[in-house]
Amino acid sequence: MYGNDFGPKITADGDAGDDPALLDGFQRTLDAGERIEPRDAMPAGYRKTLIRQIAQHAHSEIIGMQPEGNWITRAPSLRRKAILMAKVQDEAGHGLYLYAAAETLGASREELLNLLHDGKQKYSSIFNYPTLTWADMGAIGWLVDGAAIVNQVPICRCSYGPYARAMVRICKEESFHQRQGFEILDTLSGGSPSQHAMAQDAIDRWWWPSLMMFGPPDDQSPNSAQSMAWGIKRFSNDELRQRFVDMIVPQAKILRLALPDPDLRWNAETEHWDFGAIDWAEFFGVLKGDGPCNEQRVAHRRGAHTDGAWVREAALAYADKQATRTAEVA
Ligand SMILES: [Fe+2]
Ligand SMILES: [Fe+2]
Repeated sequence: MYGNDFGPKITADGDAGDDPALLDGFQRTLDAGERIEPRDAMPAGYRKTLIRQIAQHAHSEIIGMQPEGNWITRAPSLRRKAILMAKVQDEAGHGLYLYAAAETLGASREELLNLLHDGKQKYSSIFNYPTLTWADMGAIGWLVDGAAIVNQVPICRCSYGPYARAMVRICKEESFHQRQGFEILDTLSGGSPSQHAMAQDAIDRWWWPSLMMFGPPDDQSPNSAQSMAWGIKRFSNDELRQRFVDMIVPQAKILRLALPDPDLRWNAETEHWDFGAIDWAEFFGVLKGDGPCNEQRVAHRRGAHTDGAWVREAALAYADKQATRTAEVA
């Protein structure tokens, strides 16, 4: 179903402002568990929050291509190379769906990319860590895509229709990504002692940053309450982080790999895995730009954008030609 039955419709760049009828229509749509669609009236803050979140998500998908793209030429076999290339291509596709979803809110792709290139919009901090060995491809797939799944499955039920629908397809592909990461680690873990050690070293480096992917603790997450009320966010950062830990601990056992946390233990009372303190100073440092690869990632992205200018020009010229031809036929 597209659209909903509540409230008057307005154009894509129209906000509900202070109009009580429009705001009431928006609220009744949320209360009924229906989706807000691009032509529905919405509070300016809802639109702004979604654009920021979807843009940040889209930027993360395309910046996330870099740490893994780094290993395509060095994959240990043709099979691994083909899988990794497909995975990195999927991430480009995720970026595309998400920029398209942001466009339905009136933000152009060009504008959002400029904000990324100028450092005015962020992407997930995890991609500011380097990929040092082949085992990092396994750790990223298993942990980083695994955390992405836990974060994103609830967004399939987000109140904004285009974002929710984009997420359904993305989540299906992310679960393939997580399995391929698991399979890389399973192979390395069962290989020679040095292969096992390489897998363990990758987990040691990626475990804590992957826990940080859920964002700051609930008591330091100022925008969360409003996002929950708007149905953009369904669970708090800490709830999702706990869900991730509970999912990963049994998988680590199957992989015969240890998670680098001496405080990790089963809590029979809460029926969850307790885990140690996260180094939030590191998180905020990387967020601020002091991670090992922040500069490199943004510089590479800017370079790719400049180098790709001719592709955009050619695509536009082709589209113009097609439009002229269609007009002539008509
Ligand atoms: Fe993705
Ligand atoms: Fe992925």
